[in-house]
Amino acid sequence: MRALEPRDRPVLEALLRGTEMFYEPEVLVALELIDLGLTPGGGGYEFAVAEREGRAVGYACWGLNPMSDGVHDLYWIAVERAEQGAGHGRKLLAYVESRVRAAQGRCLMIETGGKPSYAATRGFYLACGYVEVARLEDFFRIGDDKLMYAKRLDR
Ligand SMILES: CC(C)(COP(=O)(O)OP(=O)(O)OC[C@H]1O[C@@H](n2cnc3c(N)ncnc32)[C@H](O)[C@@H]1OP(=O)(O)O)[C@@H](O)C(=O)NCCC(=O)NCCS
Repeated sequence: MRALEPRDRPVLEALLRGTEMFYEPEVLVALELIDLGLTPGGGGYEFAVAEREGRAVGYACWGLNPMSDGVHDLYWIAVERAEQGAGHGRKLLAYVESRVRAAQGRCLMIETGGKPSYAATRGFYLACGYVEVARLEDFFRIGDDKLMYAKRLDR
């Protein structure tokens, strides 16, 4: 696992589009966060990049929720489509959790979609020990709920 570098930007843009999971506005928001992460100080956004043979194959972006005293939000996690299912996501999330614990974080929160195309993503979070703590019906679109998952990291 390594820090975000400027050379990652085009690679991660292609990776995000290649997942075929994100709408264009979502890709643009993800890129905005990457750009903030590449500025000095990182704008409060932390990044980890997973590599295979020197190539970025996945990344995660997270940060402390500034209105809390130790709850961190996972803003983004994505693995290159051809590399999915090979353990990169689990390693990325475990690394994020270790960084949150090291920062005395109490909890990591994740928001995701409830539509059928996100079934694998939800399976991933459940497999990694996350618990559904809230569901906002029809949040993104009619029939597409927002799900909130959490894992306590102080127990
Ligand atoms: C979700 C994502 C980050 C997971 O990363 P990954 O590298 O594919 O996942 P891993 O190989 O580390 O899988 C970890 C665990 O998740 C579970 N999992 C993965 N895919 C699953 C599926 N389709 N159904 C159920 N569980 C699944 C497995 O149980 C696996 O456990 P194992 O290690 O015991 O096999 C990745 O698939 C991805 O980028 N998806 C598209 C983008 C996305 O949805 N991002 C999140 C937006 S909220």
